[in-house]
Amino acid sequence: MAAKTKPLPTLPGEDRLEKIPAHIYESPGDACAALAAEVKTLIEKRRAKGKATVLGLATGSTPVPFYRELIRLHNEEGFSFADVITFNLDEYFGVDRDHRESYARFMREQLFDHIDIDPANTHVPDGTVPSEEVFSYCSGYEKAIKEAGGIDLQILGIGRTGHIGFNEPGSSRDSRTRLITLDRITRLDAAADFLGEENVPRFAITMGVGTILEAREIALMAWGQNKASVVAEAVEGPVSDQVSASFLQDHPKARFLIDAAAAGALTRRRVPWLVRPVSWKARDVRRAVVWVAQKLEKPVLKLVERDFNENGLGDLLTQHGPAYDLNIRIFNELQHTISGWPGGKPNADHTNRPERALPYPKTTLVLSPEPQDDVISMGGTMERLHEQGHNVTVAYLTSGNLRVADAEAEKFARVLLATAQREKWKKQVEYAEGILAQLAEKGPFGQDTDDIRRIKSLIRRGEARDACAVCGIAHEKIRFLDLPFYEQGRYRQFTVQDEDIAAVRKLLAAVKPHQIYATGNAADPSSLPAKCFYALSQAIAQEKAAGAAWLESCYLWLYRGTEDEYSPHEIDMAVPMSPDQLARKVSAIHKYQSHRSEEQHTGERNRLAAQRYDDLGLAEYEAIEPFQRWRI
Ligand code: F6R
Repeated sequence: MAAKTKPLPTLPGEDRLEKIPAHIYESPGDACAALAAEVKTLIEKRRAKGKATVLGLATGSTPVPFYRELIRLHNEEGFSFADVITFNLDEYFGVDRDHRESYARFMREQLFDHIDIDPANTHVPDGTVPSEEVFSYCSGYEKAIKEAGGIDLQILGIGRTGHIGFNEPGSSRDSRTRLITLDRITRLDAAADFLGEENVPRFAITMGVGTILEAREIALMAWGQNKASVVAEAVEGPVSDQVSASFLQDHPKARFLIDAAAAGALTRRRVPWLVRPVSWKARDVRRAVVWVAQKLEKPVLKLVERDFNENGLGDLLTQHGPAYDLNIRIFNELQHTISGWPGGKPNADHTNRPERALPYPKTTLVLSPEPQDDVISMGGTMERLHEQGHNVTVAYLTSGNLRVADAEAEKFARVLLATAQREKWKKQVEYAEGILAQLAEKGPFGQDTDDIRRIKSLIRRGEARDACAVCGIAHEKIRFLDLPFYEQGRYRQFTVQDEDIAAVRKLLAAVKPHQIYATGNAADPSSLPAKCFYALSQAIAQEKAAGAAWLESCYLWLYRGTEDEYSPHEIDMAVPMSPDQLARKVSAIHKYQSHRSEEQHTGERNRLAAQRYDDLGLAEYEAIEPFQRWRI
């Protein structure tokens, strides 16, 4: 299907709080097609006047589909970039241009090597300049931009800290190209690429905010739910050095191109009744009541007419009031999402339960993009499903081997070596020595060999089995799909192929689940969960087209991974947990030693989800695992 190059329509007035024009597209592909078409027109116009075009470029996962579109223009339409000059925003400090994570290499691999741009016209800051020369090097970079005539169009992404380039919180409006210290969140976001947080450089060279603001035109792209809050802050919040993208509010020709998920926290999407008349669909009614209750820090059943009227919800009362009735209705709706029977309660009336009573037991398929995603998001629910007699299969779509630190592989190779030497197993000694030699040869940043990836997969598998065992799931109920796109690729650059979809489809057709648990529908499209969700949705579509009968009685439950947790109005099933159950879940997560991300290990997120229900006046639980139903 051809990409649409127009943003979704904006209703009159709904963008009135937005201080930077925000164009919302149906998909990143549409936004990138639109931007690439504009770039083409810009180059053509300048070319007609005999002028070169100067583009400011970004790296990271966001612009990848945009670069693919530029490459397509070159390959399929013969469009030339011969008179284009580029300046990249930034580079990790201490990283040379051939390092696999260097931005210089990224640009070659993602764009420059595939178009006819003159390499001499491309500029990426040099991460290897000696410290004492950085200052003069940076002034030289600024000078080169000026000498090229200044930047015609600057392409940007945005970090979760609100950074543009690597202008982390605290960067001033007047900042110029310089050496900066990377924020912890930025380093965590890059941890998978660098095979561990400890390998992520601490410093980077970046164009300054002032440098960026001098571009004649600026286009910032953002995709996925985990950019939503920072996008809203930049577009609607105060101009602040704590969110450097907010400085774009002062630029006459800056705009955001975002997808629906990244637009989710803008007023027009989050609380649309504040900026336009709303037709009040069921989900919006719930959202509005939850919002006003949270805002006033009141339980739903204590809201009064005045609370609605004073918060722009008079219209809601006219259509769905009075407040007393509305409160009870929404309270009941929320109440009915709570269920300790995620597989349905046999022999019970299920009219007001999220899951059907029958069939019982259910065949349940838990899909996890990589080991650990499952227990982090739904370890308690997995345990419940098993205890309540359902037939639970857990399938890991990828091995997660890229997340395993070299030190772990080395530890296992050494254990094997010592054992094999003692037992005089010649082959095993050779194998273990081979792994150790390969590890030494590749060094901390080199690409893992197939042998190393295999041993790392085995480590993850072992941990996954241990974690599942805590949740009661037996070894033989675990499947490792090792989808080829992952085994052949790297983070942020994965491409799902037909063979991946076929493998997921084969699993679905073999298991014929009554319930599927999955994640990734709202994630950044370049992320692993998003790729896995894509493979799943394609596999389901193919099964549907083939008339697979199992699909007719299958419910798909979504859980949130690294994105923000569902808000109460979005939840269709809230599985409550006792303190003991939460403690067991946390201990399951702790079975993963080879890759840890501390924030997710404490169960805090599930406590917070429970707290939100409690604050709305619902039952007080220790923790909750939330799910949303996706209509297949
Ligand atoms: C990259 C850059 C950064 C990224 C930002 C978002 O050159 O300057 O500001 O645009 O960190 O990164 P992704 O796109 O990977 O989410």
